Amino acid sequence: MEKVELLIELALMGAVGEERRVTIRSLSERLGKSPQSVLRLLSRLEEEGLLRRRVSGRKTHVELTEGALEYLEGLYEKLGRALYNGLVVGEVVSGVGEGAYYVRLYSERFREYLGFDPYPGTLNVRVLFPKTIFDALVNLRPVLIPGFVKKGRTFGDVKAYPVLIRGIEGAIVVPSRTLHPPEIAEVIAPLNLRERLGLKDGDRVRIEVQER
Ligand code: CDP
Repeated sequence: MEKVELLIELALMGAVGEERRVTIRSLSERLGKSPQSVLRLLSRLEEEGLLRRRVSGRKTHVELTEGALEYLEGLYEKLGRALYNGLVVGEVVSGVGEGAYYVRLYSERFREYLGFDPYPGTLNVRVLFPKTIFDALVNLRPVLIPGFVKKGRTFGDVKAYPVLIRGIEGAIVVPSRTLHPPEIAEVIAPLNLRERLGLKDGDRVRIEVQER
């Protein structure tokens, strides 16, 4: 863990692709560790081939090795897979009552593209984890539901992500134009989820986006 912290700190200081001058004092302040532990850690990183260190007089120059960069990228990728794998945790909230209108407008397309007849409305879920639905959805491919023009009005494309919510199939829908901030996930389903699942405002739900 300390090793990772030091590597991240050095990367933040720009010791990537070129060497950077560092002082043991500043590293020790940044990491909240004694100068002795910083020196010990630097030696360890060097021994493990993660760091090149050049000391001339009282000046220390360091650079992360390719091995260190590969190691950090591996961690980053693993962290992304652990956290952003299509899981959304949130709480049920009330919307502004316009979900039904929009779901009705798109209902034929939802049937065609998602394979179910949506209950007219959206269950609004305020996302607690991750910070926004985009973080949860970033690595996933949506079903793109094309927009249309009706009576001279344009209705935009909608991205839909098939989900399971307490075992029931539905979809998170993200309109290309929306009044909601992305902290709200709007869920459509073939039935009224509040009734079926006994949900009320403030209840915690876990939504799993389905891999296709
Ligand atoms: O008023 P609000 O925007 O929250 O709701 P709506 O989209 O007009 O939907 C009417 C009601 O049905 C709301 O209480 C929704 O939370 C709920 N709903 C549901 O439980 N399951 C669905 N599949 C869709 C809506």
